[in-house]
Amino acid sequence: MVKDPELIKLILSKDFYYFNMREIADFIHNEPVTQNMFFGGGDRWRVIRQNLSPLFSSIKLKSMFYIIENCAKTMEATIREEMNESGTFEVKSLLTRYTIDCVGSCVFGVNTGTLGKNYDKNPFTLIAGQLFDVTSYGGFKLVTRAMWPSIFYGLGLKMFSDNVNNFFSNLLIGVFESRDHKESGRHDFVDLLLNWKQKDFLCGDSITNMKTGEKKTIQLNIDEGLIIGQCALLFAAGYETTATTTSLLLYELAKNKDVQARVIDEVDEYYKRHHGKIEFEAINEMPYLQACIDETLRFYPVLGLLTREAVEGYTLPTGLHLPKGTRIHIPVYHIHHNPKYFSEPERWLPERFYGEGKHFITPFTYMPFGEGPRVCLGKRFSKMPMYAGLLTIFKNYELELDPKTPSSYKFQPRTFVTQALGGIFLKFIPRK
Ligand code: HEM
Repeated sequence: MVKDPELIKLILSKDFYYFNMREIADFIHNEPVTQNMFFGGGDRWRVIRQNLSPLFSSIKLKSMFYIIENCAKTMEATIREEMNESGTFEVKSLLTRYTIDCVGSCVFGVNTGTLGKNYDKNPFTLIAGQLFDVTSYGGFKLVTRAMWPSIFYGLGLKMFSDNVNNFFSNLLIGVFESRDHKESGRHDFVDLLLNWKQKDFLCGDSITNMKTGEKKTIQLNIDEGLIIGQCALLFAAGYETTATTTSLLLYELAKNKDVQARVIDEVDEYYKRHHGKIEFEAINEMPYLQACIDETLRFYPVLGLLTREAVEGYTLPTGLHLPKGTRIHIPVYHIHHNPKYFSEPERWLPERFYGEGKHFITPFTYMPFGEGPRVCLGKRFSKMPMYAGLLTIFKNYELELDPKTPSSYKFQPRTFVTQALGGIFLKFIPRK
């Protein structure tokens, strides 16, 4: 466990070459969904990251924004239709339906229908439940695989059921067929995959260049695992993180009515400036809302722990030698709640990130998206569904706690992403 910001900087950023792995063991096993770059390291990770990154450029994000805006409109209609007498919604579920719809349409070009009726029987909702399996068996598999991968796979266990692998395989077959196996000109993820499929290899720089300064290039075989793995990753990383953060932010705003009032003022001013329309620029124009998002990510980091693995033996400046294969854990949750770095850490205070406040944060003590070359690839993408969703909700409603909502949350212990235990029930009060 490493807690010192200087050492964290070294591991995540300066000497990244030595710590680029998360867990390589899976690639020798035939489980396509886990063959994604999140779990991997080395040349394979670097080549995939280089080839996926163009999807997340500013121009690409801006060109996708109209899709997100449409999903937000659908959510607006869903809220209206599903509003009952009490006005109470379980917001984690509502936001999950919305973010699945955003990722489905931006990444795969399909209408998932998760915001429609019978969403609990929708195939995307069902697969989402299997990806973040919170049953006791799911928790057992997570821990066993992380600690004893050889035993785990030796026993013939798999992290994800065949259902999950087949779902993504069939999804891709369907969207490829709908595009007649040709690039459509939308330049989205599916077009990128169709382009990959026409080649035998992906090319990119070797990770050893970071150490040697050479210009060695690598060719990576394109196979089913490579394609399905990235597809499942973008789906899973895309919806769950954003839905969790946004629903916990709504909860904090319902608890802190004075902060909510300021957010609503900012929302109203935004709509006045933009003639009632949600546009891409919103993500850079609402500093107070951004401070609320930043503080929510401090208080509830989606990944409470970042993991790296030593690729080669390495001696820390403290003299401690880390043999090859040593796993290093960075306790993000603990650091975000350490009074040494954040005063009154158990209070949710957006002011820490507002105006001058954010300049006082010690580097490498605030890492909700990770840091260094492995920083979250979807960091900027995630702002689009968050802003569009929040602007849509606060245009029409104020939020209040429902009597069954607790005054604080415990977290689900059986999954590696932060999930509040029990639902987040909030009352939507129409604004006058
Ligand atoms: C609030 C939203 C999000 C949070 C808090 C979040 C957080 C994270 C964190 C902590 C990591 C690990 C970074 C590290 O090890 O240093 C990560 C990795 C990643 N995230 Fe996100 N994420 C979010 C949204 C998204 C979205 C919307 C996408 C894609 C559509 C995405 C795609 C990825 C990918 C592909 C990686 C792996 C990067 C790599 O290993 O090189 N994330 N994210």
